[in-house]
Order: sequence, then structure tokens, then C-alpha cells
Amino acid sequence: MLERKAIRRMAALRLLQVAAIALAVLLLWAIFMRVDAGNDAGLPPGEELPDGQAPGVRRQDDGIIKVGLTMDTLQEERWIKDQEMFGEAVKALGAEFIVMTADSDDAKQIEQAETLIGMGVDILVVVPHDAEAAATIVNKAHAAGIKVLSYDRLVRNADVDLYVSFDNERVGELQAEAITKRIPAGKYVYIGGPETDYNAHLVKKGVFNVLQPYIDRGEITIVFDQWTRDWQPANARDNMRIALEANEGRIDAVIAGNDGTAGGAIEALAEWGLAGQVPVAGQDAELAAAQRIVAGTQTMTVYKPIRQLAEVAAELAVKMAKGETPRADRLVNNGKLDVPSVLLTPIAVNADNIDETIIADGFHAREEVYKHIER
Ligand code: BGC
Repeated sequence: MLERKAIRRMAALRLLQVAAIALAVLLLWAIFMRVDAGNDAGLPPGEELPDGQAPGVRRQDDGIIKVGLTMDTLQEERWIKDQEMFGEAVKALGAEFIVMTADSDDAKQIEQAETLIGMGVDILVVVPHDAEAAATIVNKAHAAGIKVLSYDRLVRNADVDLYVSFDNERVGELQAEAITKRIPAGKYVYIGGPETDYNAHLVKKGVFNVLQPYIDRGEITIVFDQWTRDWQPANARDNMRIALEANEGRIDAVIAGNDGTAGGAIEALAEWGLAGQVPVAGQDAELAAAQRIVAGTQTMTVYKPIRQLAEVAAELAVKMAKGETPRADRLVNNGKLDVPSVLLTPIAVNADNIDETIIADGFHAREEVYKHIER
């Protein structure tokens, strides 16, 4: 009898011991997981965190939507507006906004995207530096169960969930329509964007949709056609210098990928005393370009109302984060699939309609645009 009691007591003790060991293991595991979560979500210095947000927090269902934006660059004036306006629109929808900028560095952009994923964003919005390299970002986000919205620039060869941009092909058409109206025959120079940005390809396609019939009829000759590394104005200026030298200054028109590269091309034209003599097209409606348009050294730009883009993208990003299907109005192939897309309408701007477009919209103040003009 006594013996049996002793055996039972020993068995109960064993059970207690096992339970205690299991509890200790569980505790150690929990501590280890917390440390791990803290380590892999460290924010690089200078990056913006939402108010009161501590780094190192893993995805948690606190009911608050977190929208992460990874940007290529803030080099062009427009991206500062994009960042501000998109952030404002996201916050107005009651969501948190976290943004990081990669300074045209693919490895850095991938790393920042990983950080955003580690911070528990519910949707990742990407302005890719390199259209192909950014496929890694999409794959990593998907592996973590996060959807990806390609903002302004399309990520190529990846399962992008939504693409929101302006109609970039139309941008190129507007440029070429404006320039051929002035110069229907002659020697054209094409200063494109970088090969790594798919927008540069789409814009170029639009330009040549318009130019090709003129080329086929022998009316327009393309005497120079080059990409511009990372949209660098200095690289565009150097290319324009080469084009001018090779043609001994006999150039009739220039179409540039954007206003930054148009500015570079105009610098080279000025060195030949040709600024204001040769029509030049750009895009973005940057303040410097608007000032050149009223001064007569740039012929036109293409205005893309950034607030529209930012607001539509924010609305759809938050919807996707909530698990809803975003609306799309067309499909754009990215090399891997037809991506549901929303493409907004760009607007051609020249000296005649600058007041009723970018100034009327408050994109730039009238006194800023006409600052250097004596009246
Ligand atoms: C954008 C342009 C911009 C350029 C350089 C393109 O992808 O569509 O608006 O000027 O990138 O940042």
C-alpha cells in the first residue's frame, strides 16, 4: 500500500519536472523571438517612422493599416511632391505611412524594402530604380503575404498586383505632336531616359508612334538617339554636346525624356548659341522648365498632376491592404503578366496654356513661373 503511494508521488513529481522544463523552453523561445524581431527591423538613420512607432515591431493585427513606400530617388522635384502628397493621402485615410528612399541604389532599395516588410507593412508601394532588379522586392513582399503596388514606374517580370501611373506612352506622343507641329521636317535629336526605367521605354515608344510616319516619308531624320544614365541632366548635356558636334550645330529639334534632361540639353544648346532657337520638349512641369517655357528656351513640357496620382494610389493601396480588390481600368504587360493598371491622363503645356494648367492648378505659383521675366 505504502509502496504504491510512494510510486504515485514519484510519478507526480516527474510530471511536474517535465512541465517545468517545457515551460522554461517555451519562455526561452519567446525571449529569443522578441530579440530576433528587434534585430531585423532596425531602421537606418534618417528614415521616417510614423508618429510614436518604435522600430522592431513585427506585423501585428492592431487594426491600423501600415503603408510602406520605397522610392528610387528624390533627385527630381516631382518626387518630393509624390512623397508628401502620397503620405498626406494615406494618413487622411487613417493609415500609417512609412517611406524610405534608395538614392538610385538597387541593393539599398531591396534592403529598405526588406526593412519595411520586417516592420509589418500591410502593403508595399514601390517606385523602382531598376525595373528588373525590383522584381526581387515583389517576390520578397509576396513571400511575406504582402501585396505590391507599382507606383508611377512598372516593375518588370514579377507578379505586380497593381500599377498606378500616368499614360507614359501618351506623354511621348504629346511631346512629339507639339514638336512636329513646329518642325515638321529636319534633324531630330532624341535624349531618352535610362534604359533601366520602363517609363523611358514607354515614353520613347509614344514619341516614335508620332515620328515614324515623318521618318518613313524622309521628312524627319533622327541624327542622335541615346539613353541617359539615371536621368542625370549632366549626362544629357554631354550627349547633346556630342550630337551638336557631330552635326556641326545643325540640329532642328530636341525631344528629351523629362525636364531634367531637357535642361541638360538646353545647357549644351546655349554653348552653341542655340538656346531658344531649337525647339525642346520635356516632361514633369518642373518649376525650372516652366520658367524656361515662359523665357522661350524650352518649347513644352508634359504636366502630370501628381496629387491625382498620389490620391488614387493611396486609396487603392489602403483598399488592397484591407484585402479588397482594387479597381483597374486596363492591363499593362510587364514581361511576366498583364498587370491590372490605372493610367491617368497627362497634359501638354506650352507658353500659351501655362496659366490655365499648372498655374491654375496651384502646381506652381504664377510669380515663381514668371520670376525672371521683365514685365
Ligand atoms: C518619371 C518621370 C521622372 C523620371 C525621373 C520617370 O519614371 O515618370 O516623371 O522625371 O522618372 O525621375
